[in-house]
Amino acid sequence: MATKPKTLNDAFYETLKDVYYAEKQAVRALKKSAKAAEHDELRQAFETHAEESAHQVERLQQVFEIIGKPARAKTCEAMQGLTSEMEEDLEDFGGSPAADAVLIGCAQAIEHYEIARYGTLKTWASQLGYEDAAKLLDETLQEEKKTDELLSQIAESLNVEGSEAAGDDEEDDSEEVVGKKLAGAAKTAAKGKAKA
Ligand SMILES: [Fe+2]
Repeated sequence: MATKPKTLNDAFYETLKDVYYAEKQAVRALKKSAKAAEHDELRQAFETHAEESAHQVERLQQVFEIIGKPARAKTCEAMQGLTSEMEEDLEDFGGSPAADAVLIGCAQAIEHYEIARYGTLKTWASQLGYEDAAKLLDETLQEEKKTDELLSQIAESLNVEGSEAAGDDEEDDSEEVVGKKLAGAAKTAAKGKAKA
């Protein structure tokens, strides 16, 4: 029996199953990240996106309905890899000063995977004439992009705090810097005297 050649419709359904699995995993990863985050704004961002992602799972169920196929998940090796890297990083860096930065890195890797997948699915949905599905996929795509941007912003603010601490050794001892250091030392000494 000759096998029917695969079509873009088949590719769409297969990828939809992959993303359905990935999105459910993402909800779990985000909840875990929210628990692990130290920075308030970061925790809030993870919590908000966990809720959003639960809606994204529902949107995918709607897309399955639109194409008249059962909502099934297919193991997504890529997302499994990304989430197990996150677990590993949480173990290695949990509680360290770099923990939040590492957590953001893991979350952004997940977001970028999702952005790639939803972008493809949206294009295919349009080409296949599933305009309602394309709209739903685009809503999710925009949420993923927004989250990615927010995470970048938070990462930048973390870097500022981190680089101040790390910068101490690297500061060049220009006259201005030495002057400030001396003024600071004098203040500290004065405080010490006042206490004594
Ligand atoms: Fe998502």
